[in-house]
Amino acid sequence: MVNNRVKSLNKSATLKITALTKSLIREGKDVVNFAAGEPDFDTPDFIKAEAIKAIEQGFTKYTPSAGIPALKEAIASKLLRENNIKTESSNVLVTTGAKYALYVALLSLVEPGDEVIVPMPYWVSYPEMITLIGGEFRPLLTKKEKDFKIDINVLKKQITAKTKVIVLNYPSNPTGVTYTRQELSEIAKIVEQFNLYVISDEIYEKLIYDGRKHISFASLSGMDKRTLTVNGFSKAYSMTGWRLGYLAGPNEIISQASKIIDHTTSCAVSFSQQAAVAALENKTWAEDLCLKFQERRDLLWQGLSTLDKIKPIKSQGTFYMFCDVTPTGLSALEFADQLLKQQMVSCIPAESFGIEGYIRLSFATGNGQIKKGVARITDFLNGI
Ligand SMILES: Cc1ncc(COP(=O)(O)O)c(C=O)c1O
Repeated sequence: MVNNRVKSLNKSATLKITALTKSLIREGKDVVNFAAGEPDFDTPDFIKAEAIKAIEQGFTKYTPSAGIPALKEAIASKLLRENNIKTESSNVLVTTGAKYALYVALLSLVEPGDEVIVPMPYWVSYPEMITLIGGEFRPLLTKKEKDFKIDINVLKKQITAKTKVIVLNYPSNPTGVTYTRQELSEIAKIVEQFNLYVISDEIYEKLIYDGRKHISFASLSGMDKRTLTVNGFSKAYSMTGWRLGYLAGPNEIISQASKIIDHTTSCAVSFSQQAAVAALENKTWAEDLCLKFQERRDLLWQGLSTLDKIKPIKSQGTFYMFCDVTPTGLSALEFADQLLKQQMVSCIPAESFGIEGYIRLSFATGNGQIKKGVARITDFLNGI
């Protein structure tokens, strides 16, 4: 009775573990939560105040489906100012979270049977979204020795006559690695040569460490015509529950894609949109957030990098640390399961990111919790 494409979807492993962790915490268990996919900081007051004002002023009805003009203009100026992407507000769509921006982007570009290349390890929702719209998911192998980044020769070999889109996500969930301008330019050459499109998920752009600079794919020469940029407010402004993201790209795609919003969600939440204008006007909050996360990254790295049976990769961005647990002799699923049961530390086994032998630890939690978590992981490893 149920549609086959829907039946074939996997439940989100990350959401499942997050829900289990939260329910253990509600039961009063002393869990160290390294599974979280969202910043633990509260949404800043200056953003909340704008939403409250909007609600009090009755800004509680449908908005234009592509988003309120003030926000679309603020996004277009942000893209120019910070990302060097020259765009008009008419080429921006405000969406119900970055997740929905990705879905709209894929639906707009991919015909049933078209192949979509996604570097592996990948964020759990890409394959499922591609399946849902009838596309062919094509994971692209990457290697730890190359920081899990795209190898141009491997990419070239994977492209067929049916390849339409490459999905990029950097800084990457789950590996935390990001790309340099030079590396992106190499990918851009292939995109041009094989007449492809890129969906560039840059949701973690503001969480980037050690003085690195985020380079937007659409800012590279000729790539503005071939790139749909996805971003949002969830990670940079701690606004996961506000469900607000956006999509920007060439007018011929965006003008068609906006019809999907017309007939599905109608628009993003009105007062979230109003509040997001204030988020983009603020210069310092996200920068401070990045510094706090970098400190936590350092703390977790110091704690783990000296241990024998776990090999963390130092995150260049995001709030995740990707760790090789093969020296334990356990599968990542066994590792995560036993760590939770024995030490009450939750983490995400990376099977659902398409790779065996790794776990993802989130440092979206306080310094005290990070120290406690490291001590427990040390005990756990000593017991193996
Ligand atoms: C790589 C990546 N893209 C997109 C999203 C979705 O973000 P949003 O909450 O804005 O839908 C997430 C959330 O975890 C993510 O990790």
